[in-house]
Amino acid sequence: MADFKNIRTNVKDSVLYLSINREDKMNALNFETLEELRSIFEEVSDNKEIKAVIITGSGERAFVAGADISEIASLNEVNARKFSESGQEIFSMIENCHKPVIAVTNGYTLGGGCELAMACHMRIATSNAKFGQPEVNLGIIPGYGGTQRLTILIGRGKANELMMTGEMIGAEEAKSLGLVNHVLPTKEDAMQKAEEIISKILSKAPLAIGMIIDCVNSSFIPDENGYQTEANSFARCVKSGDYKEGTSAFLEKRQPRFKGE
Ligand code: COA
Repeated sequence: MADFKNIRTNVKDSVLYLSINREDKMNALNFETLEELRSIFEEVSDNKEIKAVIITGSGERAFVAGADISEIASLNEVNARKFSESGQEIFSMIENCHKPVIAVTNGYTLGGGCELAMACHMRIATSNAKFGQPEVNLGIIPGYGGTQRLTILIGRGKANELMMTGEMIGAEEAKSLGLVNHVLPTKEDAMQKAEEIISKILSKAPLAIGMIIDCVNSSFIPDENGYQTEANSFARCVKSGDYKEGTSAFLEKRQPRFKGE
């Protein structure tokens, strides 16, 4: 994995750790950082050494405090649409990645930061995390998929309330709304929880994990028949060596050794 200016990367035990690294700007996502995320996720799908991703923010104060407002301040109608579409595209790459992606959200998780966390497959927060979509305070709306993913995750009424008031909520409330999977006291604890979940996932059949991601995502696409996607994926699973290994291992009373093929 190449070096990036705004994102620290490190691969350990098949997990790619990404840390958004603009601490003096509360890890705000500028265009350059977004494009770095695009390059990274283009590589993640093909890189056999990477089996899972954890995204966090550098320091203790913020995961990501939103898109970089100094760049947003000079948009016009044409490049604003492009800005939104390109952010949506990059976050969809994360959501559709066939390898598990977990956000460890420490501190402010606002605007584009909340949208980035929501594009990940799961979210683990530190107890000081604060979530919100404060774009309305700037006279704009969430543009990186937030109006859609927040509604899906927490329901229409609460999503409307958060987006229309721009108010922040704490980690425990975010958990009670289904925005967050787990809340842990410190960043170290939250990272450890993410690693525990990833280690369990990596002991399962990789093709099945990718298909679960596809089927779950498909349930949120109005034109797609998620049940059909599920049946097709189920049928593809039984063609895999991992299916034979999983069922044989059960019958032979031993642990399976999945190969992802
Ligand atoms: N874009 C650009 N810079 C940002 C930023 C953002 N989204 N969020 C924070 N920063 C910068 C601040 O401008 C400040 O930079 P400076 O030291 O050069 O002045 C630095 O990060 C620290 O932020 P500051 O506001 O001084 O910290 P705070 O603890 O008082 O407040 C926040 C923290 C997160 C509540 C506040 O920074 C904030 O409201 N940020 C914007 C959140 C937002 O609206 N996000 C959606 C954008 S679409």
